[in-house]
Amino acid sequence: MNFENKERGQKQLPQQIIMINNTVSHLKNISSFLAMDIFAKAEKMEKAGRDIIHLEFGEPDFPTPSMFSDAAIQAIKDFQTKYTHTQGIESFRDAVVDKYLRKFSVKFASSQVLASSGCSPLIFLAISLLVPSGHEIIITDICYPCYDNLAILAGANPVRVKICIEDGFQLDINKIKKAITSKTRAVLINSPMNPTGTVVSKKSMRELANLGIPIISDEIYSDLIYEGDTYSMLNFTDNCIVLNGLSKYYAMTGWRLGYMIMNPAWVNIATKIHQNLMISAAHFIQKAGETAILKGETECKKMAIEFNKRRKFIINRLKECGLDPKYNPVGAFYVFLKYPDQSKKSFDLSIDILEKTGVAMTPGIDFGPGGEGFIRISYANSLENIDEAIKRIEKYFS
Ligand SMILES: Cc1ncc(COP(=O)(O)O)c(C=O)c1O
Repeated sequence: MNFENKERGQKQLPQQIIMINNTVSHLKNISSFLAMDIFAKAEKMEKAGRDIIHLEFGEPDFPTPSMFSDAAIQAIKDFQTKYTHTQGIESFRDAVVDKYLRKFSVKFASSQVLASSGCSPLIFLAISLLVPSGHEIIITDICYPCYDNLAILAGANPVRVKICIEDGFQLDINKIKKAITSKTRAVLINSPMNPTGTVVSKKSMRELANLGIPIISDEIYSDLIYEGDTYSMLNFTDNCIVLNGLSKYYAMTGWRLGYMIMNPAWVNIATKIHQNLMISAAHFIQKAGETAILKGETECKKMAIEFNKRRKFIINRLKECGLDPKYNPVGAFYVFLKYPDQSKKSFDLSIDILEKTGVAMTPGIDFGPGGEGFIRISYANSLENIDEAIKRIEKYFS
């Protein structure tokens, strides 16, 4: 709908509309999240009375533990409702320092931490910080859809390096080396990875560190690893920016709280960008996050144990019905499944499965060209719902 306004007296002419559309044509390559598109359709069907099982979203189905909400409520009552230091309140940043020391045995100063409204704006900030316009950032094909879009938005050129199911969705450092040019300014990795749930090996992390190029390491799922050891990029190099957030492990997606940990050399400029971009994350949300990080371990571990039960269940059930994922998703809450009929496009297939069975899943193409032929199944749903969903999917494919 176009704006209408008495003062202007008339609606826009078609020519004016074309001109206005042209002003945003440089952003034509920015894509929407297909998971959201699937959700919108699923929701419509649900409203029309269909029984839908949602396996499309990367969002814990558990409610935020009440201890975290209580901390926010108390903070609001204490009038902690104003701007904070752009890097966040000292006690939240101290909690992050404490967490990384406990979990990864790495030490850094709270002045190296910057809190923001979710990990998402920090992906943009980190790319803007390290990659001058017209330069390159290496990302993987497949990866979290935002990386490509936010790199473009930051004026950077994302260069995709393939990761394949044949390699268990592991990074191939030789391919990364081949993709490096004189314009490369950063490599962006994510472990455990969305959409595969795979973890970058210790060896690959060390090799990445040895490339001598700044690494942006998205560690938002690092508390959700069910097999094997867990490392931060900070275990291997200081030449990195770590991104993390409270959406996943702490079940706080809607709270919008994330943080980045960076080399002291970048703090000054990162702070300036963040001041301009966000001013600060909300004070009372940071108080909830601080409680979550310092006191939430018992509650959050229970959720992680539940995710692991579902993971084992879904892998077994998929294997039983001839849909073996053919790799081991050891983290996050996703299985990236190569479906039998490869002549179908993943988007069309996701829509067809949704319409015929009421099971909503994300088409693999959402994660890059290498995701074609796959669907992402999120097991952030109850065992009962997962069980029912697999029964419906089995019937669909049989
Ligand atoms: C890999 C990855 N990074 C970042 C985010 C966004 O996190 P936040 O909710 O903190 O913005 C997501 C959300 O799905 C994700 O999968």
